[in-house]
Amino acid sequence: MSECIIQKYDSLNHALQALQDCFSITVPEMLVIAEKFHEDMHKGLTGLKGPLKMLPSFLDTPSGGENGVFLSVDFGGTNVRVSLVSLQGNGEITIIKRKSVPLKDPGGSYDYTASAATGRELFCFLADQIANFISPGVNIFLGHTFSFPTKMYALNKAVLIGWTKEFKTRLAEGRDVNKLLEEALKKHGLHGVRPVAVTNDTVATLLAAAYGDPHTDIGSICGTGHNTCYLEPQPPQQPQHHCPMIINIESGNFDALPANVYDRQLDMRSEKPSEQVLEKMVSGRYLGELMRLVVLDLVQQGLLFQGRPCDMTGFPFKPYSLSPEHMSAMISDDTKGLIETASWLKEATGIKDPLLAELGALKTSASLLAVRSARLAAATYVGILQHLDPLLTNLHTIAIDGSLYEKMTGYAQNLRSALDEILTDRAGQVTVRFTKDGSGIGAAIAAAIAVQG
Ligand code: GLC
Repeated sequence: MSECIIQKYDSLNHALQALQDCFSITVPEMLVIAEKFHEDMHKGLTGLKGPLKMLPSFLDTPSGGENGVFLSVDFGGTNVRVSLVSLQGNGEITIIKRKSVPLKDPGGSYDYTASAATGRELFCFLADQIANFISPGVNIFLGHTFSFPTKMYALNKAVLIGWTKEFKTRLAEGRDVNKLLEEALKKHGLHGVRPVAVTNDTVATLLAAAYGDPHTDIGSICGTGHNTCYLEPQPPQQPQHHCPMIINIESGNFDALPANVYDRQLDMRSEKPSEQVLEKMVSGRYLGELMRLVVLDLVQQGLLFQGRPCDMTGFPFKPYSLSPEHMSAMISDDTKGLIETASWLKEATGIKDPLLAELGALKTSASLLAVRSARLAAATYVGILQHLDPLLTNLHTIAIDGSLYEKMTGYAQNLRSALDEILTDRAGQVTVRFTKDGSGIGAAIAAAIAVQG
């Protein structure tokens, strides 16, 4: 695949300096982003045209007293996870059992994210997983985390507005996903499984943390996708919605951002150009691809791996051939000769004798992109805090789940430092809580709220 040089540099050092400039986000820049985000939230809430959908969830935070055993289906960007969750009613939660299945078989036998599959087939696959998970004839309420933008008409009626994260499954957009699930469950004879609630994964994460921590008022996912929700005390001009209510911002579509040439190139080649601009800069679905574009540019200018035989069918020539896991491993490679990165490079490209400076360039690029991702996410959280409590007089907890936040080397620390840099002496008012399995647990809580009120 031949691609054009994007940005001309005259040496590797000069290139790294320029990359540093183009991916760094300063504190004043974060403040501008926060302010603009806050403005766009207001636009979305008042029904004005803007990038933030501000979708009602029909859910308030839980009391912590909800109890019972619920089935949860967490349909994210990469896997479907089915869990049996026990809510103890004292803020305590246990996952009794759980299974996770990829939506795309690594062996290539199926792919429910591609245009070859339909919405019905996808939900049939979900029902299959449920049928294999529970005992036949069981009666149980089910909460469903569906990690895409939906227009909610009720807690059990959620219409998919449009796919994000490069999903292409046909005949699903515009459909009620709870109905699709209900039909698939019936077809599988699972008459005792009653889907009573649909939530976004950000909302589920907020619910999961709020079950034990009453200060939680922001929920976010930094994983395959990126999005945030918050607890709105009073959405203006929406008197029909009871308040407080959690609002799914669909913040991944925020676009008042300093996009550079690599961001624009990635966007142009994506499934939906000009959409999900923030998500394309932050989330795990795109981070590896952005880094690949940077590295490819350096390779094509002869600044990296010059003159050495290299497999032209893999990294950095093959789109989406670099994952956030690879980037994380590069960032954490503290060996003297960066030998772990060298060994990955050999496997990925066939290059056996990289220079230390070249390996260092890989590590620096990975780190620049990961740090930018964390700082952009932090800036949007500050935008939400400005909306909720400009002087930060109250305590706030931001609940975060997702593979990037959990596993990317340094990500959680970078995000925290960015918040500290922006909020300075008020930073202590804001706690960031890693909410593992928030999406799955929150679906069970949503089901409990649906049936217990
Ligand atoms: C995408 C989806 C959003 C979801 C996020 C994280 O941005 O549009 O609904 O919350 O990914 O999975």
